[in-house]
Amino acid sequence: MIKKILRFVGNRLPFRRRRSRLVEKLDLGLRVSDGEVTRKHVVISQARRSEHIAILGKTGTGKSSLLRWLCGQDIGGGRGFVYFDLHGDATPFLLRRVALEERRKRCDLSEKLIVIDPADTEFSVGLNILDHAEGSSAFVQIAEFAELLKHRWHLESLGPRTEELLRNALYVLAANDLTLLELAPLLIDPSFRASCVQHVRNEEIKQYFETRYDKLSEGMRTMVREPILNKTSTFTADPHFRHILGQQKATFSLHEAMRRGCWVVLNLQRFCCWCIETDCGASLTYVPALKN
Ligand SMILES: Nc1ncnc2c1ncn2[C@@H]1O[C@H](COP(=O)(O)OP(=O)(O)OP(=O)(O)O)[C@@H](O)[C@H]1O
Ligand SMILES: [Mg+2]
Repeated sequence: MIKKILRFVGNRLPFRRRRSRLVEKLDLGLRVSDGEVTRKHVVISQARRSEHIAILGKTGTGKSSLLRWLCGQDIGGGRGFVYFDLHGDATPFLLRRVALEERRKRCDLSEKLIVIDPADTEFSVGLNILDHAEGSSAFVQIAEFAELLKHRWHLESLGPRTEELLRNALYVLAANDLTLLELAPLLIDPSFRASCVQHVRNEEIKQYFETRYDKLSEGMRTMVREPILNKTSTFTADPHFRHILGQQKATFSLHEAMRRGCWVVLNLQRFCCWCIETDCGASLTYVPALKN
């Protein structure tokens, strides 16, 4: 009997050691040598992952399968990740994998799992690009976003006046805790603009509206703001996207999710199709918002 127990413990020890070694490292799979699959695992340390990994291969060669296999290890090891699921096929797999982990560990892991589907009108995650975290530089964040919009909308060709208006208007919206939905009233309605501008602390931006934009003739104001408004209206008019853009406070922080080691699954399948169909550039608002 004792012999049996010793044999049982002895048999299990190396296996456990090998398993824990694999958990600490990232297992890429089995080594293939001269076309033969060997029993040797190719592993890399967790530290080396931060040096980036590119997975290249023809269609059908197993790139997505490899990514899922890596995510499965992260779920098992309790390490957080963000999965950008462009085709939507990885989401069910990851949900099943988390459910399996719950059964294995006999605990509820739902707190660690965050599934975001921007096209879902019932459960939407508020990501206001103009909402800035405490202590972060709102100015840098807005300049970065304005730059993105400028390139996407080719505002360079419309001159520095339109570009300056876009940047300053975004800043005023952020200073008032507003969203992109209020961009049109800000640029069109003088009394709404005046009430917003008075909350701006940056003197230069305040003066820009009071002494320059407000002093322009109505025709001139229309000329400068129209290239911006005719672009934003393509997605602010869409009820599908208004519920995302119209939320003042972000209901999700990627930074916080990573700190907690959460598994964030961003299912972009329907959202990508919708962005391509409408060509509204709405996707632009998502990635920068996630960064904050
Ligand atoms: N290591 C593997 N061994 C055997 N079959 C595999 C392996 N990896 C993937 N496959 C199978 O190959 C098929 C294609 O895999 P996968 O979808 O991961 O490829 P892909 O490179 O992501 O393709 P695409 O570029 O079209 O997205 C799937 O049916 C999958 O089950
Ligand atoms: Mg694939």
